[in-house]
Amino acid sequence: MKVGVVGLGAMGAGIAQLCVEAGVDTVGREVTAELGEKARDRIAHFLTRKVEKGQIESFDIALLTTTTDLSDLADCDLVIEAIVEELGPKQELFVELERICRPDAVLATNTSALSVTDIASKMSSAERVVGMHFFNPAPLMPLVEIVRTEQTRDDAFETAYALGEKLGKHPIRCHDTPGFVVNRVLIPLLNDCVRVLDEANVTPEDLDAGMKFGAGWPMGPCELLDLVGIDVHVHASEAMFEKLREPRMAPPEQLVEMAKAGQLGRKSGHGFFSYDS
Ligand code: CAA
Repeated sequence: MKVGVVGLGAMGAGIAQLCVEAGVDTVGREVTAELGEKARDRIAHFLTRKVEKGQIESFDIALLTTTTDLSDLADCDLVIEAIVEELGPKQELFVELERICRPDAVLATNTSALSVTDIASKMSSAERVVGMHFFNPAPLMPLVEIVRTEQTRDDAFETAYALGEKLGKHPIRCHDTPGFVVNRVLIPLLNDCVRVLDEANVTPEDLDAGMKFGAGWPMGPCELLDLVGIDVHVHASEAMFEKLREPRMAPPEQLVEMAKAGQLGRKSGHGFFSYDS
């Protein structure tokens, strides 16, 4: 099996890392050769650490090739898209993938809050499109949501499910409803957490301690928002609000202001907390 990954940012690189670890031939596409190399180095670093810690015996980074040319994905059996969370660019990409890839290739999107149906809506073979929604950080989080639309063919859906298992994930089957399963619950919950900061006049440190030590969360909501990216969360909240019109889905003003100010969390060095590069 050969897998293509389009976009080697945090999510795409994490997915490519899982493919290499599972021994799958992988081609990753980035917009510049430099970004592709950077992602490959990061993947090699994390896999080397796993070898050093005795979690895996070895890995073969040569399984991953990077390219800037989408047509290098022509012989992939399954392609996972992990580019910017905007409908227009995703729709354009899927039309291009449809032209480039074999007719039997499965085309998957890692979108977190957009509609898979909308992403596939400009294509003539939407029946081969599925959602494969990984969680951040993809190499560490066990879940992948396998999402089907009204049009998705059973064999395309099952191929994506089987790949999820091959990558060592716990796949769950779900439908193309806003936020699928986890984000439908998690996004309004994180928004509530941020609103509580003001309402209860509590510090991010204390809110995080509250949810970690009182509710058993592995990391606090502010730390989690910094990890996910404030901009990514605002974008996902807006997409959910647009679909569901529930006030809890709308991003809290504080997050919108932070995103505008470039306080994006870990990736910008500053969000609710500060980070060394
Ligand atoms: N790839 C591989 N390894 C990685 C990594 C990555 N991307 N990021 C970190 N690691 C490594 C670390 O470097 C560390 O190895 P070292 O020994 O070399 O330091 C190792 O993994 C373990 O790291 P931690 O000690 O930080 O691990 P932890 O036990 O504290 O767990 C966690 C970290 C899994 C992230 C845990 O804190 C957790 O479960 N947090 C909640 C995360 C969560 O809820 N994610 C979902 C976000 S929502 C989402 O993704 C939806 C969406 O659509 C936006």
